[in-house]
Amino acid sequence: MRSKIVAGNWKMNKNLSETEALLTELSAKLPDTQAEVMVAPTYINLTAAVRNLEASTIEVISQNMHFAENGAYTGEISADMLLSVGINTAIIGHSERRAYFGETDEILAKKVKTALAKNIRVMFCFGEELEDRKSDNHFNVVESQLKNALFDLDASAWKNIILAYEPVWAIGTGETASPEQAQEMHAFIRKTITEAYDATIANNVSILYGGSVKPGNAVEIFSKPDVDGGLIGGAALVADDFIAIIKAI
Ligand code: PGA
Repeated sequence: MRSKIVAGNWKMNKNLSETEALLTELSAKLPDTQAEVMVAPTYINLTAAVRNLEASTIEVISQNMHFAENGAYTGEISADMLLSVGINTAIIGHSERRAYFGETDEILAKKVKTALAKNIRVMFCFGEELEDRKSDNHFNVVESQLKNALFDLDASAWKNIILAYEPVWAIGTGETASPEQAQEMHAFIRKTITEAYDATIANNVSILYGGSVKPGNAVEIFSKPDVDGGLIGGAALVADDFIAIIKAI
């Protein structure tokens, strides 16, 4: 059985006191849920977030990590550093990392391998750009993103993978993929994994949708059979919105 997951990607938002305030409000308002709830504050506030949520079921995760063990990589953060402050899950491959920081499939494949070798669970993000969809190339793009970063992993690695399909045109734009478009792509992703591995792996991996999920559209998107939750950006910065999205699942 795959898990339902609602994760908030805070991106470069919330200073220390704002982080504390939002987390305190979230834990106070968290509804009873079977879903895994995660938040990804900025690196500098991860330690404070882990402490703040000690008594909560909300998991703190990172927005990124570096592929190297350690060394001369100014400004970067290693898997061991994350583990040492209590982080066991990392987002890898967010489209903003790809677009603004030059992260290629090759770099992402290295990050995924390092994370898994360190027993860090990977939330792998991928998705097509608007031109890909307009030119009907979105399935090819998604397939190659998955293949290049994930398909040489051992079958056993997949228990530590979460997928987040995030069409770039829907991120932070207010545009959302329709529930039908999300379902169509998620079903395609499961078919692609079935072909590369097998149906058990494909059926056990959680596939989240990301891109302008809001309280007003979450129920419809989450009701699709192959959508196992969401990776939430903007709406994760407002406690009542994030809580409403958790309730939607
Ligand atoms: P958004 O961001 O919800 O603000 O569109 C989603 C994401 O980038 O993960």
